[in-house]
Amino acid sequence: MSPPASNTEKQERNRQEKRTGYTYEEYKQTADWLLSNTEHRPTVAIVCGSGLGGLGDLLKDQVAFHYSDIPNFPQSTVPGHAGRLIFGNLNGKPCVCMQGRFHFYEGYPLWKVTFPVRVFRLMGVETVIVTNAAGGLNQDYKVGDIMVIKDHINIPGFAGNNPLSGPNDERFGPRFPPMSDAYDKEIRKLVVAIGSELGFEEKIKEGVYCGLGGPNFETIAECRFLNRLGADAVGMSTVHEVVVARHCGLRVMGLSLITNKAVMDYDSEATANHEEVLQAGKDSAKYLEKLVATVIQRIELNNNVI
Ligand code: HPA
Repeated sequence: MSPPASNTEKQERNRQEKRTGYTYEEYKQTADWLLSNTEHRPTVAIVCGSGLGGLGDLLKDQVAFHYSDIPNFPQSTVPGHAGRLIFGNLNGKPCVCMQGRFHFYEGYPLWKVTFPVRVFRLMGVETVIVTNAAGGLNQDYKVGDIMVIKDHINIPGFAGNNPLSGPNDERFGPRFPPMSDAYDKEIRKLVVAIGSELGFEEKIKEGVYCGLGGPNFETIAECRFLNRLGADAVGMSTVHEVVVARHCGLRVMGLSLITNKAVMDYDSEATANHEEVLQAGKDSAKYLEKLVATVIQRIELNNNVI
């Protein structure tokens, strides 16, 4: 049995439980710690979705940290999310890559889920590339397609679960940030053009991603409802990171790998499962990786550190 907690420990635990966010100093402490432990100065951040961690392995001259070794960092608890932050160069551009992200369904509040995004901003990152595995709601989508995200629907946000809830820190961004231009139009065009150049234009779609809280996969009625609302793909991540990234002025590009077709028909015997998601990731990740690597090679950067 562990010894009883001291009063100081109890006070600290209470303080942690009542928190509604990180302080600016905590974001800064983590950014400074990372900058002092690597000579890399990333301008692009990549967030790897389920089964898409191979993107991190593409980086050259790697310096990697386990999340457990980084001050203030939450931990990844999901299979298919390694829990490493990798710095390195991809096609000559300095990048940082999250091999594993945090999700609402892991029990983390959204300000923890999105912690790394503001750390990246403070480190001088300008562009965030978010990737995810998603279920295809659009009947034209096939397993293995790559959806360039043109917009999102943030379902937890409808109910007030928004990472920007709570006091606003103007040093990061405004109280009421716009979201109608969340996914950079120029980069979207570039991705579609590169998909054609690389010879897999038939796999590239542009569509709307719907973010849910998870962890259960959707009911048939929910899939039909989301599709009628205008969603083309559904998943359990990404939208919170994008909201925080746009709030602090980062450019965003998003890609969904369609790992399964959402079940929309009561006669279907199919059910979604995580193993199928990871397997589809293994089979098709190479296309997504090639796309990301080529986009990174081509995007223009201007260093903007806050
Ligand atoms: N639903 C929600 N999240 C997902 C799915 C899905 O069908 N596929 C991969 N992630």
